[in-house]
Amino acid sequence: MYARIAGTGRYLPPKVLTNADLEKMVDTTDEWIRTRTGIQRRHIAGPDETTSSMATEAARNAMEMAGVGPRDIDLVVVGTTTPDVVFPNVATLVQANLGIRDTPAFSLETACSGFVYALGIADKFIRLGDSKCALVIGAECITRLVDWTDRGTCVLFGDGAGAVILKPSEEPGILTTILSADGAYGDLLSYPYGVSKGFDQLRAGAPAAIQMKGNEVFKVAVNTLSRLVDQTLAKAGIDREAIDWLVPHQANLRIIQAAAKKLELPMKQVVVTVTDHGNTSAASIPLALDTAVRDGRIKRGQTLLLETFGGGFTWGSALVRY
Ligand code: ACO
Repeated sequence: MYARIAGTGRYLPPKVLTNADLEKMVDTTDEWIRTRTGIQRRHIAGPDETTSSMATEAARNAMEMAGVGPRDIDLVVVGTTTPDVVFPNVATLVQANLGIRDTPAFSLETACSGFVYALGIADKFIRLGDSKCALVIGAECITRLVDWTDRGTCVLFGDGAGAVILKPSEEPGILTTILSADGAYGDLLSYPYGVSKGFDQLRAGAPAAIQMKGNEVFKVAVNTLSRLVDQTLAKAGIDREAIDWLVPHQANLRIIQAAAKKLELPMKQVVVTVTDHGNTSAASIPLALDTAVRDGRIKRGQTLLLETFGGGFTWGSALVRY
């Protein structure tokens, strides 16, 4: 028994922030941002939008494509680093918004890897027979954690949500997943303020924001993703020629190009949305997936490699027959 993607969906906030807009906010240029990251614009959540409101819209979109209603769904998993509140968790907020009742509903926080982790867990629920219709979401309001005066980070991020519906199938679907992490790298990329740590500083109005040693993150990301590609292919027992599409985490075009090179895959077989979305953390892969499904690039029966890397560090992959 496999878990198969029955539908995909996405939501992007209407407000768009371009590189030209950022030029007016910090000492940067469109040219610098494009050359170093590939990003041209990103969507920013409005004051009334939240991670759960965006997740709900993406879920509606995926449910419509899959032809399922709230009563069909028996599992809700959300990957996010930016929950609306500490609790109730985002998955239960989505549940309430959509009228899904009496199912497991939980969020997990593995930074940019949140969606792949959520997918890997839902895959196991389905393979074990514990779910017949899972709603899996990556959603992020990450720009709320950004210091808009820090040019080193504020140009990178955007908000949004993506979702998939998974159903059991005898035909191949998710072929394999790898989930991994190494906490020794925690300090290279963090938002070190929360509830049991840094709370007093937050209350006192500390200038809390994402902290990142960009150069070092870049190097570990490229090396780890390169190893991950080999591990995933070996675990699934397939050659790299079998991959039709790379659907990577959208942090930086140069990191994506390095992964494509490792796979010897031309960029025309790589789904790139970082240009228009920026780094939306856990939302980036399902946003990219839905974009390429709906514009007709990704077709049924094709083999996709999803791969991600994020704060923690966490990383993971999913090899998927769509
Ligand atoms: N505009 C203009 N100049 C800038 C900007 C900016 N927005 N930001 C930094 N600079 C300057 C720096 O101050 C520095 O100047 P200096 O040489 O006078 O000191 C110079 O540009 C080079 O800075 P670096 O940090 O070395 O630039 P780099 O080429 O490494 O690019 C970047 C920075 C884009 C952040 C890159 O390191 C990167 O992408 N790292 C990966 C981290 C990442 O993607 N994080 C996102 C979250 S994690 C994830 O999703 C994987």
